Amino acid sequence: MDFVWKGHIIDSLDRHSLRVRENSYLVCQEGRCAGVFDVLPEQYRNLPLEDFGDRLIIPGMTDLHIHAPQFAFRGLGMDMELLDWLNTHTFPEEAKYRDLDYARRAYGQFTAHLRRSETTRACIFATVHVPATELLMEQLEASGLVTYVGKVNMNRNGPLYLIEPSTFQAVRETRQWLEETAARFDRTKPILTPRFIPSCTDDLLYRLADLRAEFGVPVQSHLSENLGEIAWVRELVPTAKHYGDAYRKFGLLGGDYPCIMAHCVHSDEAELELLRENGVFIAHSPESNMNIASGVAPVNRFLDLEIPTGLATDVAGGSHESMFRAMTHAIQASKLRWRLLDQSVAPLTFDTAFYLATRGGGAFFGQVGAFDPGYELDALVLDDGNLDHPQPLTARERLERLAYLGDERNIHGKAVAGTRLF
Ligand code: GUN
Ligand code: FE
Repeated sequence: MDFVWKGHIIDSLDRHSLRVRENSYLVCQEGRCAGVFDVLPEQYRNLPLEDFGDRLIIPGMTDLHIHAPQFAFRGLGMDMELLDWLNTHTFPEEAKYRDLDYARRAYGQFTAHLRRSETTRACIFATVHVPATELLMEQLEASGLVTYVGKVNMNRNGPLYLIEPSTFQAVRETRQWLEETAARFDRTKPILTPRFIPSCTDDLLYRLADLRAEFGVPVQSHLSENLGEIAWVRELVPTAKHYGDAYRKFGLLGGDYPCIMAHCVHSDEAELELLRENGVFIAHSPESNMNIASGVAPVNRFLDLEIPTGLATDVAGGSHESMFRAMTHAIQASKLRWRLLDQSVAPLTFDTAFYLATRGGGAFFGQVGAFDPGYELDALVLDDGNLDHPQPLTARERLERLAYLGDERNIHGKAVAGTRLF
């Protein structure tokens, strides 16, 4: 876990700017970044050094929201909105994970793709099934990625062949899963995962809040993604001031525990204020929001309010696990939003999209997503040798082109928390 990498090193300084250090040395000690230096200090000269020459070295990326079981139908069934899409495509696919042989094959493909991708950390939804969720956790642990994985809870408004048959059984199985996995892995941790308010009865949500406190685990769910969904939540929880307030009321949003809400496309000022007050992370999933016609979230507004925000692929609402694609989709969607809907929220720059993919989402995992001293060392070595260009480009221009034109074939090397994956 101690090494030195040499190359053109780029990370995010802050929301507005990249930091570029050409021909520099990145030092990893005990899995953490000891610093970036233009001349290698004496005390690191005995560490193994790999010179990547003209290649770029950037932080690994965090996918704040992705559904592992949906990977199998990525790129299919994109002509519906959320609630019909769930019933028609998603729930029938997720039901297949009752079968462990199917889960082993499908999750094996998901994990292999994620390992090869720009992602070094991820927050992942599994399905309701405990054995398949534990199998996914074993596969992810073996991959070297660092992840949170959630056994999904859903006990209403879904097909009987998938939903948990009672609150009692849902709580018993969720408890069993937490007991079995809370301390079992180094890099793979459980995260409490009520699918969304329409899928969970009030009593289940209250009981999940008790489990959350008992096991000290974080929470992930969906919030204000789709207009039909929001109207439905208003009917289901009439005493809540807004959708976010419904999670708060059941004890699943608020307090000092970590929480991620995906989407927040239609969150109003009061809901955003609740997220801000409680340090809730927003997982911005631009491709999914376009594919199932949810809308476009006002990302710079989130950042102005200092709500912690990261990027997500939301496979299979999103079609692809690539965080480069999530970055470019975020920029493109923000420009259409600005042009067509609301000129009070500026479109995203490349620097901001890179921030969201690295430092922004990485913060959910602690000191992650940049090459500051003390940060856990997640890094990608990028090779743009196949992206022909007739004249020399700056390191920054090369990174920008890699995000728009590159894919996993441009990832030459990858380290996660100081461990080399390839
Ligand atoms: N809301 C509830 N379940 C889901 C899901 O699987 N995907 C997305 N995008 N939104 C959801
Ligand atoms: Fe989702």
